[in-house]
This record gives sequence, C-alpha cells and structure tokens, in this order.
Amino acid sequence: MRTIKDRKVVLVGTGSVGMSMAYTLLMANGIDELVLIDVNEGKAKGEAMDLSHGLPYAPNSKMVIKSGGYEECKDANIIVVTAGANQKPGQSRLELTAINTRIMKEICEEIKASGFNGVLVIASNPVDVLTCVAQEVTGLPHNQVFGSGTSLDSARLRFLMSDYLGINPRSIHAYILGEHGDSSFVSWTNCYVGAKSLLDYIDEKGKDFNDLLDIYKEVRDAAYEVIELKGVTNYGIGLSLNKIVLAILNNEDIVIPVSAYQNGEYGQKGLYIGVPAIICRKGVKEVIKLPLNEVDQGKFDKSCESLKKVFTETAL
Ligand code: NAI
Ligand code: 2OP
Repeated sequence: MRTIKDRKVVLVGTGSVGMSMAYTLLMANGIDELVLIDVNEGKAKGEAMDLSHGLPYAPNSKMVIKSGGYEECKDANIIVVTAGANQKPGQSRLELTAINTRIMKEICEEIKASGFNGVLVIASNPVDVLTCVAQEVTGLPHNQVFGSGTSLDSARLRFLMSDYLGINPRSIHAYILGEHGDSSFVSWTNCYVGAKSLLDYIDEKGKDFNDLLDIYKEVRDAAYEVIELKGVTNYGIGLSLNKIVLAILNNEDIVIPVSAYQNGEYGQKGLYIGVPAIICRKGVKEVIKLPLNEVDQGKFDKSCESLKKVFTETAL
C-alpha cells in the first residue's frame, strides 16, 4: 500500500475540538506539517506557538506547526473543519444549522478558491448537513468530502459495551448508524463480539436485551450529558478525527463509520449520513452495505427524512 509523503494537514477552527485533534496528531507522529486557520487569527497563532513549544519532546520534533491563511490549503493532503458554534446545554445539534451553515459556506468558498484537491473532512455540527453543504460549495468529488458522522457515537457504543461485557472494545464490532444526532440507531443484528453475533452472545450469557437498549440511550444522550457537566465534548472527537486523518494519510483501507455520500447503497440518494465506509488516501473508497432488517431500514429512512427536512425547512 502506498502512503503519502510530506503529510500536510490544515485545520480550520482552533477551538476545543480542533486543538484536541491537533494534540493527538502531534503525539501520534502522523504528519509533517500542520497549519492552523481560525477567524480569530490570534487564537490560531497562539495555539501554533504553544504546540510548537512541545516539539522537542514530541515523537516528530521536526514537524512544522504554524498558523496561516487559506493559501495554505492548495497543497494540503487533508483539511479538517471544526469551526463553528457548539451546543449550549440542552441545545440539539440541528439547532446549530443556520449559524454553522453560514460559517461553513464562508470557509468552503475560501477552500475552493485555494485550488485544494485533497480530502475534506467535516466535524462541525450538524455534521451530516454541513458535510453536504461543504461538498456542494467546494464541488469536490463526493468521495473526497465526508464527515466524522457516527465515528464518535460508535466509539461511545463500543466503550460502553466493553464495560458491560468485560471485553476489549477493539473486539466489539458495532456501529451507530444514521444521523450524528437524535435520530441515530443501532442495527443489533449487525453487531459482533469477535466474529460471533452479539445477540447470540448475550443470549448464551443470559443477559437482558433491554440492557443494550439502555446502552444505546446512554450513547444518544452522551453529548448532552458531557456538555451539561463540562461545557464541551472534545477528547473523544479529537481521537475519532485522529483515526480518520491517519487512515487517509496511511492509505489504511479501514472501515470507520463516517458521514458518507449516499448513492443508493441503503436505498437513499443525494445526502450524507452515518454508515460504515472504507477510508483510503482518496477519502471514501466504498460504503459498506449492511443487511438491514425491515425495522432497521425504517429507522435509517426516518433518520434520512429528518435530515432532508432540515434542508427543505431552512432552504439551504
Ligand atoms: P469552539 O467554540 O471551541 O471552537 C470553534 C472555533 O471555530 C473557534 O476558535 C472560532 O473562532 C472558530 N470559527 C468560528 N467561525 C469561523 C470561521 N468563519 N472561520 C474560521 N474559524 C471560525 O467550539 P468546539 O467545541 O471546538 O466545537 C466546534 C464544532 O465541532 C461545533 O460545531 C461542535 O458542535 C462540533 N462538534 C462535533 C463533534 C462531532 O462528533 N462531529 C463532536 C464535538 C463537537
Ligand atoms: C458530540 O457528540 C457534540 O456532536 C458532539 O460530542
């Protein structure tokens, strides 16, 4: 597998989420150059200085970290956008649509003007909606634009199931599907412990299926709870974005649940939503089609409808 030389990442939005990702990338020795862009130029500059001061102790002490403008996007391999308003306690992700669409359009006009032709990863919320906006404004091919989608939700699910079952989360293969938001769901028939069906496993262990439903609810409400407690969520998403960025740069061909463009794989077309996909150096290589039963297909369609409604109601 070919990997990318001189790995350059541009981060737009140097708030809690963006800088958590930046710190994990510094520690992962995954990239050669990191450029920070923010409407608050002083913040971007200060963050670049602060991160650079740690370089002598970092795995790649020769990494270049700087703040800059959109001209830096032209030769970047990846741009990650984490700019925009975050939720206040009790606010849903979809309530950020109007303000963050305006911000995303502004940013993507600049990205387009720079001549960027790499992979554009969106994390700002509502991520499925904003990924669609980003692709439309930049005009980049659908595979080169995708959102963090349900990568974080799926990590939360695997963590909680690991705790419940006493099994390493890496051996739990389970995805949250649909919107990164309130209409997400789990297709339990597509969850595995190692190569064994999760439903067979809990049956064998005499565990109650209702416990799984409680775990899903905890995942769905996790962001609300963390925001209530500490104001933001940043570390989990920082690591999810790190996983995505390195999968692209290292051409890993690994499966991650992301907000990927739908071209009929799940019976829906023309929108971005959370599904498992193979991530390679060109972005989304393939959407993995899971066999959904009738109930789960209904949940997927409903989740798509709630996103489509946002588009029609806000005339994006
Ligand atoms: P924050 O307020 O800490 O940082 C946002 C940054 O965006 C600020 O530095 C601000 O100056 C910058 N910004 C605003 N407008 C800009 C523009 N036009 N151009 C460039 N930069 C601009 O917010 P935080 O907590 O980092 O959250 C950022 C976004 O990430 C939010 O929309 C939040 O909801 C989302 N998020 C998404 C997650 C996911 O799983 N996809 C998880 C957690 C947060
Ligand atoms: C999260 O799930 C708020 O989307 C953000 O943590």
